[in-house]
Amino acid sequence: MWKNLLDWIEYRIPMMRVANMHAIQYPAPKNMNFWYVFGFLATIVLVNQIVTGIWLTMSYEPSAEGAFASVEYIMRDVEFGWLLRYMHSTGASAFFIVVYLHMFRGMIYGSYQKPRELLWLFGMFIYLALMAEAFMGYVLPWGQMSYWGAQVIVSLFSAIPVIGPDLVIWIQGDYVISGATLNRFFALHVIALPLVIVILVFLHIVALHEVGSNNPDGIEVKRKKGSLTEEEKTKYAMHEYYTNKYDIIDDVVPFFPHIVLKDLIAFSVFLLGFTYVLFFNPELGGYFLEHPNFEIANPLKTPEHIFPVWYFTPFYAILKAVPDKLFGVIAMFAAIICLALLPWFDRSSVRSWRYRSGLHKVNLLVFAAVFIVLGYLGGTPQAPWKVTLSQVCTVMYFAFFALLIIYSKNEKTKPLPARITK
Ligand code: HEM
Repeated sequence: MWKNLLDWIEYRIPMMRVANMHAIQYPAPKNMNFWYVFGFLATIVLVNQIVTGIWLTMSYEPSAEGAFASVEYIMRDVEFGWLLRYMHSTGASAFFIVVYLHMFRGMIYGSYQKPRELLWLFGMFIYLALMAEAFMGYVLPWGQMSYWGAQVIVSLFSAIPVIGPDLVIWIQGDYVISGATLNRFFALHVIALPLVIVILVFLHIVALHEVGSNNPDGIEVKRKKGSLTEEEKTKYAMHEYYTNKYDIIDDVVPFFPHIVLKDLIAFSVFLLGFTYVLFFNPELGGYFLEHPNFEIANPLKTPEHIFPVWYFTPFYAILKAVPDKLFGVIAMFAAIICLALLPWFDRSSVRSWRYRSGLHKVNLLVFAAVFIVLGYLGGTPQAPWKVTLSQVCTVMYFAFFALLIIYSKNEKTKPLPARITK
């Protein structure tokens, strides 16, 4: 009966065919390592955010008068409300942890290079949408940091010549940050941006599966002779990705069970960290939930220090490093645009850092270190030496891209192996 039902459905909608192509039988390179689990983890966190978000919305009140109290109500009176809220707030930080590691993987193995430029671009759009989503979510509890954080970020738009001041009023829906602002941020946070993110993630996966996964060696995988269907042959020949010439052993394994098992191990380790924060340290010393946000928004009382949450701090440090407001905003956006343009900045014929020059490895590691230092600088009270260091780090951040453009074309790389290695 079960089989009959499945056949009945399959005849009308290609359920199993799609599941086989994109999950169960998806040909994944054998040598996928630890760095390849973060896409799966990001998907899990996305589901967590959507599910807990829906439940939070059932008891949250999007008004300047009621928002703060409704969050307290969720924490104290709603059954398991505290769990829902902490799953959502911890999930926000977890999202950025896995996404940053996911992006860094793309950088070390050159996953953004041809033919995966669009995949990378979709990733960057996801990242932008995620930042907007997190920013608006943080405004919703209507605590001190919600209010003043929104004040700082929205006022950045006033630096834009001519239209700036009007644009700020348009975004706020009022002359100041008010209940009207909270209301529209709520609408964007609970429906508009999640919808955009889900659609972008779908396109991200479609783009990935069209050209196939990269791997830690950054070389094309070889397929067993005769293992490709005629349709696959045309498709893969077009992308010069899978070759089908002389091999006896496949370089790929079906996604299920091989990669699923690896992902499940990663998921258990992830759960250890996630549940530790959730049950023992949900504020994580003020990094995941900032202390001033446990105080209701007060437009008449500016907090002593205003910092964004940790995942924004590298860009915040770049903004603060530039003395002029407009140029600060430009530098901050340029920092993100440079990341998006990596596929065109990097002109090397070799993808993975395993076979690239020492200079490239150093450049990449210094970039990662600079990003972390900027994160530290943007998240702690300002001091003169920190401003100077932020300026040095901002220059180093952009120097990574400038150097890459210069050396990547004629880079001295190591010989590539004929087949993927372990
Ligand atoms: C909601 C956020 C995201 C989700 C759910 C997601 C999901 C995934 C999944 C499931 C994969 C395949 C498994 C893997 O390779 O890890 C993948 C691959 C990839 N993602 Fe994402 N991703 C997200 C954000 C991003 C961002 C922000 C970028 C970069 C800007 C990015 C760039 C890539 C690249 C380049 C690959 C292919 C990697 C390779 O084959 O070597 N992703 N993504």
